[in-house]
Amino acid sequence: MSLEVVSASSLWVGNYRRRMKVSLERMYENALDWAHLPFLHSSAFSSIDLIDSGDWGWRADLGLAQRPEGGEPPHITLQLSLDRTNRRWISSTLEGPGAGSEIWTHVFEFGPRDLEIQADFFIPGVTEVDRAATGAVYAALYQGLYDEDEAMMLERQRAIDEQAGPEEKIEGSQLDDFALGRVSSLDANLPFDFRYEGQPWRLIRDEEAWLVYTLTCPHLLGSFKDAVIESGTVTCPWHGYRFSLRTGECLSGADCRLPDPPKVIERAGWLYIQGMTANPEP
Ligand code: FES
Ligand SMILES: [Fe+2]
Repeated sequence: MSLEVVSASSLWVGNYRRRMKVSLERMYENALDWAHLPFLHSSAFSSIDLIDSGDWGWRADLGLAQRPEGGEPPHITLQLSLDRTNRRWISSTLEGPGAGSEIWTHVFEFGPRDLEIQADFFIPGVTEVDRAATGAVYAALYQGLYDEDEAMMLERQRAIDEQAGPEEKIEGSQLDDFALGRVSSLDANLPFDFRYEGQPWRLIRDEEAWLVYTLTCPHLLGSFKDAVIESGTVTCPWHGYRFSLRTGECLSGADCRLPDPPKVIERAGWLYIQGMTANPEP
């Protein structure tokens, strides 16, 4: 692979390689997904304000998470330019601390869901003496970011595959109610997760009432499994959209909503899902 010279004042300080069982489609989607930065990568970024975006990539004002003692978080203008022909993208710091830095990420495909990325770090103002140490700092940062990105891409692919799987639609009117369990034992085991029509759901108590909600975010299929419920709302860890569990409405103003949950009914000390036949998963 040959890398063009980025800028006369920038020094190549090192690179980071990682093999991942994800598709090129997921990888590009992740690179173009500017909105996840301050949520999924909250240890590195504190805010993002989009300036421009398109099929070519995006440019945004990005707040960094590490702030000087007592000070405001530093801001940078970052641009990501996607070059599909060469299977690479270039992240350039245009303004702010580290202005002039460029990170070139190339993708090497080994199979439909098997690729390796190599990120090369070109940083201005680094002396030969500091080259290796600076490269190690960037490699460690990228390792942390890709730990989070890989988990997100794998989870999203799993959710997409699950939604594309064989339909398990149930004709509710022809089926008996399905017992989720004794109220006393469910109460002792909340939150209680189960599957219905091939999708994962969670049962909780909210203000004494039973409440069921999806464990899959309607935006890009993020998982709510580890999301904390606050005042009847759930916040997705991927892009920070907040949803009302009672109405399904997206309180962040996005054009998506939670799906209507299956109805639960309590009868003679047991809790039932109306018209369900499949066995709940523990
Ligand atoms: S997947 Fe984007 S907010 Fe949930
Ligand atoms: Fe990311």
